[in-house]
Amino acid sequence: MTLLSIQHIQKTYQLADKQTLPVLNDITATFDAGEFVSIVGESGGGKSTLMNIIAGLDSQYTGDVIVNERPLRKMSERQLDQYRRENIGFIFQSFNSISHLTVLENVLVSLEMTSLPHKQQVARAMSLLKQVGLSSRSKAYPRQLSGGQKQRVAIARALASDPEIIIADEPTGALDEQNTQEILHLLDQIAASGKLVIAVTHSQIVADHGTRVIHLNHGQLVHDQTLRQVAGSKRAASALPTRKLSFRATFQMALKHMQRNFGTNLLITLGGAVGIFSVVLMLALGRGVGGYIRHEISGNLNPTTVEVTHKVKDGNTAAIQMSSHDITKLSGISHVTRVEKGYFMPSVQLQYHGRNVTTSYSQTYNKTFLSKNLTHGKNPTGLNEIMLSQDIAKKYTKDAQNLLGKNVTLYVNVTDAHQKPALLKQRVKVVGLTKSSNTAVMSWQTLAHTAQAQGINLKPTFLAVTVAKLSQVKAFQSQVKKANYNLTGVGSYIDTINQYVNLASYVLAGIAAISLLVSAIMIIVVLYISVGTRTKEIGILRALGVRKGDIRSLFVSEALILGILYSVIGLLLAEGLALIINSSAQSFIHFNIVQVAPEFVLFALVTGIIISLIAAWAPARKAAKLDPVEALSYE
Ligand SMILES: Nc1ncnc2c1ncn2[C@@H]1O[C@H](COP(=O)(O)OP(=O)(O)OP(=O)(O)O)[C@@H](O)[C@H]1O
Ligand SMILES: [Mg+2]
Repeated sequence: MTLLSIQHIQKTYQLADKQTLPVLNDITATFDAGEFVSIVGESGGGKSTLMNIIAGLDSQYTGDVIVNERPLRKMSERQLDQYRRENIGFIFQSFNSISHLTVLENVLVSLEMTSLPHKQQVARAMSLLKQVGLSSRSKAYPRQLSGGQKQRVAIARALASDPEIIIADEPTGALDEQNTQEILHLLDQIAASGKLVIAVTHSQIVADHGTRVIHLNHGQLVHDQTLRQVAGSKRAASALPTRKLSFRATFQMALKHMQRNFGTNLLITLGGAVGIFSVVLMLALGRGVGGYIRHEISGNLNPTTVEVTHKVKDGNTAAIQMSSHDITKLSGISHVTRVEKGYFMPSVQLQYHGRNVTTSYSQTYNKTFLSKNLTHGKNPTGLNEIMLSQDIAKKYTKDAQNLLGKNVTLYVNVTDAHQKPALLKQRVKVVGLTKSSNTAVMSWQTLAHTAQAQGINLKPTFLAVTVAKLSQVKAFQSQVKKANYNLTGVGSYIDTINQYVNLASYVLAGIAAISLLVSAIMIIVVLYISVGTRTKEIGILRALGVRKGDIRSLFVSEALILGILYSVIGLLLAEGLALIINSSAQSFIHFNIVQVAPEFVLFALVTGIIISLIAAWAPARKAAKLDPVEALSYE
């Protein structure tokens, strides 16, 4: 049984402008295990082309290549990958080592696709390197090696998976005589061990060394000469069974490439991190600002309490009074927890030490009053207590606080239940001072009791209605309006405020989305360009039998690592800045204005990774689609 047979191989390159270049013309030959065949011929004669065809790298030819009775033409792409992994060891004309991998790692690429356990892979790689005399340079990078040393790395790699056929394209082309002899000796040993060695050469020394010489001339096989008989074609044991590149190996390769291309990856990481950082920061700021505004509203005003009055037509003062019927009606609305009576006073007169001061519009105390505005003392919740605005107090004394605890006489013009005007008079104690201007505030009870004592029946002119939660205010308000009442107080415009707050966070989120988009595009571009610079590496991997899918995984792994990296860095930056902003914000607004919520962290991580995967998709596809022969000849 012949190991390898090539039958009527014809190859024509299609050049640009529909021109064609015939290179191989009807080449037929058979080869057996144990042979060391030299192929000689003029430069440009098609030797490398023929080797690519035998190695299953090039499928654009007519005729057939039959290995162990299996025609390559019938093989699927995956079977061809497997064929390259298991049956072929290729020593390229240009050494084709992967520059960012060490000598050992270069040899390991082939072994990582075998079923050997990792430890044995390393052991075998080391023993192969020892065989080619490079065990001391296993940690060196290809650029640190001489031409002959690189050639020997290529030989060690070609032997790694113990293939039946070793193809060596100019294995000694760059070597001096001493090195040539060493390599030839190696190839001799390989052939003697029961493998087929096909070596392309211009060197007479090499040609003389083999067991057979084939001459190619103008694309034709012109001479096939056996130099010495192969002693009994004993077949070597079958090659190491192989599999696709393991995930671990792919991931490690990706990691190594990233380490060695630190600059590019730093750029991508920074770009991505800035994108993630700004998204998180904007979202957190939106949340913080919204929270701050709501905090301010509910901390200083009381949006859950609303003042309710009748809708009054001009001048009809009778209609202004709230009856017990109104109280029952309002108490019945859902979510209402409390209804307080209140009274509007066009003016209030105060007398202290014989001096009169008149306030402008005032009203009785209720829950809508801003606790923030109380500067001294307490709210006038008790009977016969009064709270004055600072400006009113200052009309009596230079230091408003002097008035606290003092008794003043209060005069209020009211209308009784029958629309009759009356003047209420009461001694009250100043218990609090407020920032608001030109006002005096006392409780409804104070007013009502005073009226009662003077035989006047006083009806409230508004009701302060409280609901349990801020979220219920809106529903409550529409109910009140439906019942044909009027609303005043902060609670009545809380909804508008909420809209503005939401608008602000949408705008911030929009800015964030744009910055994320920009960094996503940048990442895509950088990854896409990086495929271009790695064309050769991809060609080498494909030639070694790495499948398209594995090439794709390689790029996806890199993108994934980058995605996780920049997302985490972006998050850390955002958290860091949040800490700084918040600590300085605390000193003047007493609030964490940047709030990084756990869902933002999750969102950032997921988005970052998704972007990196999207960014990897096109380059990974492009890389996997590269034609191995073209990729290999890429400069
Ligand atoms: N991808 C390609 N597209 C078009 N023409 C090609 C391509 N590859 C090789 N050729 C041409 O095919 C011919 C044979 O090339 P090949 O590399 O097989 O020669 P060779 O015998 O290996 O030469 P050398 O001894 O210089 O290595 C050359 O004329 C070359 O220019
Ligand atoms: Mg060549």
